Amino acid sequence: MSENFKALVVNKTEEDFTVNVESLTFDDLPEGDVLIRVHYSSVNYKDGLASTPNGKIVQSYPFVPGIDLAGTVVSSQDDRYEEGQQVIVTSYELGVSHYGGYSEYANVPGDWVVPLPEGLTLKEAMAFGTAGFTAALSVQKLEESGLTPEDGPVLVSGATGGVGSMAVAMLAKRGYDVTASTGKESEHGYLKELGAKDIVSREEVTPEKLRPLSKQRWAGAVDPVGGKTLASILSNTQYGGSVAVSGLTAGIDVPTTVFPFILRSVNLLGIDSVYCPRDLRVSLWNRIAEDLKPEGLEEIMNEVSLNELPQTLSDILKGKTRGRTVVNLTNEDS
Ligand SMILES: NC(=O)c1ccc[n+]([C@@H]2O[C@H](COP(=O)([O-])OP(=O)(O)OC[C@H]3O[C@@H](n4cnc5c(N)ncnc54)[C@H](OP(=O)(O)O)[C@@H]3O)[C@@H](O)[C@H]2O)c1
Repeated sequence: MSENFKALVVNKTEEDFTVNVESLTFDDLPEGDVLIRVHYSSVNYKDGLASTPNGKIVQSYPFVPGIDLAGTVVSSQDDRYEEGQQVIVTSYELGVSHYGGYSEYANVPGDWVVPLPEGLTLKEAMAFGTAGFTAALSVQKLEESGLTPEDGPVLVSGATGGVGSMAVAMLAKRGYDVTASTGKESEHGYLKELGAKDIVSREEVTPEKLRPLSKQRWAGAVDPVGGKTLASILSNTQYGGSVAVSGLTAGIDVPTTVFPFILRSVNLLGIDSVYCPRDLRVSLWNRIAEDLKPEGLEEIMNEVSLNELPQTLSDILKGKTRGRTVVNLTNEDS
């Protein structure tokens, strides 16, 4: 094992903000129980924010972002894991206050580690990553609140994004009649391939003038967009329907009223992947491998090297990416 390895390092000084591939040593890594050779990481919206000077994600500099990683255990002081074992780490403080997945090696607490479930490769696990896990948690919580394919159309907002693409594909696989909402007219074919039955524009889902209650269209919804879009989705949700909200791409203020809740018995389900309890995390990763892995995973997944990563991180903040991007850290030229 060489003493040096590569990582994407963001640094902020009074004069400058830089995002560069740099050479690190094992002494640079934070403390942890499990040392992992990272094979793949992925690109999430939060990683895009972590790679900007004012993204309010990174707590101190220099820093290695990347909220997801998958790889093999090099050594472990935690007896739940052994050398050579394939593992996934997502969320907690990874890529936020603890050096993350954009690095050939990572050192993490044992409680953050999930064994790679049978039926998934390391690369596939990162095609899901935090975005796919969040989509799976949304689907699971909607079903726990009573949603079935017989209830009617289920809306997915921000459908070409990471959470959105995964939610469309997972819901379609489970037999739901999925309506995908997107701002990208050029990607209608992609969404159809993922299994969307209908496609609606962002403007149709979020009209200029919001009404507290509107036509009852959706039996359920996966909403990683938030803001005004969430308010509008709530007003279009059927009596007793549920909306799983995970994101804030369109903003944090939700201009709604109590009417969807007290007149239509609508359920608003909060989705948090970061501190999702470990038992649920492990069981959901197993479920992803067993019955939520979509047929068209290849279609959703793009791959970049560490050197190509800064461009993708900038693109995701501009809404220019599609689906999920995995970062290959096994390339010679990574
Ligand atoms: N709660 C959690 O645990 C959790 C976990 C993961 C992610 N998240 C959050 O979920 C959100 C999505 O994450 P992601 O990784 O899927 O990001 P992403 O890949 O960038 O997807 C976001 C999608 O939202 C749509 N969009 C962009 N700007 C918009 C706007 N101004 N108004 C309406 N729609 C807009 C775009 O899809 P279209 O062009 O198709 O409309 C875009 O592709 C982020 O806010 C992220 O922080 C939360």
